[in-house]
Amino acid sequence: MDGNGRWAKARRHNRIFGHIRGAKIAKSVIEECARLKVPYLTLFAFSTENWFRPVEEVSFLMLLLRRQLIREKKMLMDQNIRFQVIGEVGRLPASVRGVVMDTVEETSGNTGMTLTFALSYGGRQEITLMAREVARQVKMGLLEENEVDEALVAGLLPSSFLPDPDLIIRTSGESRISNFFLWQSAYSEIEFEAKAWPDFNNEDLHRILSSYSARERRFGRTTDQLQLR
Ligand code: IPE
Ligand code: MG
Repeated sequence: MDGNGRWAKARRHNRIFGHIRGAKIAKSVIEECARLKVPYLTLFAFSTENWFRPVEEVSFLMLLLRRQLIREKKMLMDQNIRFQVIGEVGRLPASVRGVVMDTVEETSGNTGMTLTFALSYGGRQEITLMAREVARQVKMGLLEENEVDEALVAGLLPSSFLPDPDLIIRTSGESRISNFFLWQSAYSEIEFEAKAWPDFNNEDLHRILSSYSARERRFGRTTDQLQLR
């Protein structure tokens, strides 16, 4: 979800105005994905690098997150959405962390869409944690060097409860991954959307989903091989 700040600036507003509008868009996209029976939706809400923003902006984003989770808990329950989180949850202010963990707990029995918020998340951070865990297990004698394969690495990533994303959408015209799912995006389809996040709507979502459906995903194979399956 990128482009909140620039969207607000272009309208001679404070960046915070863009974040408020961005939160509304997030709610609407979440509800639409649940309606469309998307099994997993992950929103990159706050990166490890976002901590370096001005303190007022960081504080506001934290406040907004807390407020939205409190407001939308009923919607999550009504729509049978399971809320999850990835990233350095321990770095969040205690009042935000409390609401985040309560929401995870209260929605844990829901069986519909899994909605994951990436908070203080970074793909490199996640890979580093995995490497540390491999080192620890080898040192403890729980793991042999030659047992380290792709499946083991994938399973030790903190976000291993999620399948690799089929589709990644980044708004606001930037064509980069910016430390999102680095390992998991190996075969993801990526859509770079020109609109800023506060301008994104459900029609844009439908357009992107239908263009995604028309893509041929070969996973390194040939078109002929795919037709034999
Ligand atoms: C996305 O919008 C929201 C967050 C990263 C929290 P930005 O805040 O990155 O907006 P721009 O990129 O500065 O326009
Ligand atoms: Mg940005």
